[in-house]
Amino acid sequence: MKIAVVGTGYVGLVTGTCLAESGNDVICVDKLAAKVEMLQAGKIPIYEPGLAELVHRNARDGRLKFTTNLAEGMAEAELVFIAVGTPQGDDGGANLNGIWAVGREIAENLTGPKTIVIKSTVPVGTNAELARRMAEITQVPFDVASNPEFLKEGAAIDDFNKPDRVVVGARREEVIEQLHDLYKPFLRTERPFLAMTPESAEMTKYVANCMLATKISFINEMANLCEYYQADINEVRRGIGHDQRIGFSFLFPGVGYGGSCFPKDVRAAIHMARSVGVPSLLMDAVDEVNNAQKDILARKILGHFNGQAEGKTVAIWGLAFKPRTDDIREAPALVLIDQLLAAGVAVRVHDPEALANVKEIYGDRVIYCDRPYGALEQADALAIVTEWNEFRNPDFEVMLRLLRHPVIFDGRNLYDPAQMAEQGFAYHGIGRVSATGPHQLKM
Ligand SMILES: NC(=O)c1ccc[n+]([C@@H]2O[C@H](COP(=O)([O-])OP(=O)(O)OC[C@H]3O[C@@H](n4cnc5c(N)ncnc54)[C@H](O)[C@@H]3O)[C@@H](O)[C@H]2O)c1
Repeated sequence: MKIAVVGTGYVGLVTGTCLAESGNDVICVDKLAAKVEMLQAGKIPIYEPGLAELVHRNARDGRLKFTTNLAEGMAEAELVFIAVGTPQGDDGGANLNGIWAVGREIAENLTGPKTIVIKSTVPVGTNAELARRMAEITQVPFDVASNPEFLKEGAAIDDFNKPDRVVVGARREEVIEQLHDLYKPFLRTERPFLAMTPESAEMTKYVANCMLATKISFINEMANLCEYYQADINEVRRGIGHDQRIGFSFLFPGVGYGGSCFPKDVRAAIHMARSVGVPSLLMDAVDEVNNAQKDILARKILGHFNGQAEGKTVAIWGLAFKPRTDDIREAPALVLIDQLLAAGVAVRVHDPEALANVKEIYGDRVIYCDRPYGALEQADALAIVTEWNEFRNPDFEVMLRLLRHPVIFDGRNLYDPAQMAEQGFAYHGIGRVSATGPHQLKM
């Protein structure tokens, strides 16, 4: 099939590339000329494992092209995917300006029937409203389908190629068939293709992200409680996870969720509920718990320094909102850096991929270290914020030598508290009994 993908970010670039890899002719469109020029020159603007190789191969074979010109990009396409950002607006709801702008431009340039597929995460009713707005501009027939994306950054290629399910919302059987044909190569191992109304498809994405965010806030709240009562959340996890109604997945305590999806999608769901007068008590709490959890490492670290933090140095390992990405949108590490700097603490940071993005925000206010051990030199404590694999089994002897004080605040519970005590570290995890006693949280 001939396909255009508008918006060449984390979702658009992965979608376009994977669709090209399955034999389609794809043109990716983005309004940012610098991004398109990079891609045309074979450079990948984001870090996503496995993506560069696929982009290069499909571009070389002529199945994947890049342009800033939407009219040109969509001219031959049967399907036009919209994958532009839908960031949080001032009122907490999703800002749909990008969707409306792209819809207008598509309508103005429509010369023959096409299916417009909304892949961006959009509030319920966006599909119908986009169709209404486009129909005011053009007489040419078109369909608008909704096809929310469930990929995870860091595993995006795998998720796109082997989706747990594909959800498509459309009003006509022909459109459902068209998208079913497109996705067939990705559904070979009996993955379900779920056709529904556009409204249900739009809602499905929010419900999925709200559920996942709820699990995280739930386990974080329970972890904080564990700390007070000297229970270990890791043991508790095992205790609950074998109950099949509960399970083990997505119940790891940490420093709160970040990224470009959960925070804004929870708030957009709250906004959707409020705007029709439906209570959103649970989602309000999920958001509030998460905001408080993002402070947890700063509270522990500043508590440890007992009002004497000024002039101390803290090393941070992990800045991206999760491992295997360079994405720092709403990353908990940024909250920690802000709070440490405000307390007069010097900050030395390391991340395998996100240093350049963090530098754009903090300039010379923090020290950037290419190697994890470099960040530890003369530091009074280490804070671990993102669980990159390379932090799981470090050389503790080297760490002891480099750190001025052997204190670790582990926001991801990577190490065993007993072993750390044996090694000579003061070790503080999340919801765990540290050998140095429970760290009292002041909420
Ligand atoms: N990032 C994820 O993990 C993820 C997962 C599932 C769904 N989503 C959803 O997918 C959508 C895109 O997310 P993302 O993370 O890829 O965003 P992104 O910010 O990485 O990329 C969006 C791209 O759209 C481009 N763009 C914006 N307006 C445009 C216009 N008028 N014409 C052409 N290009 C335009 C931007 O320049 C940018 O390159 C959002 O709705 C998001 O909620 C994201």
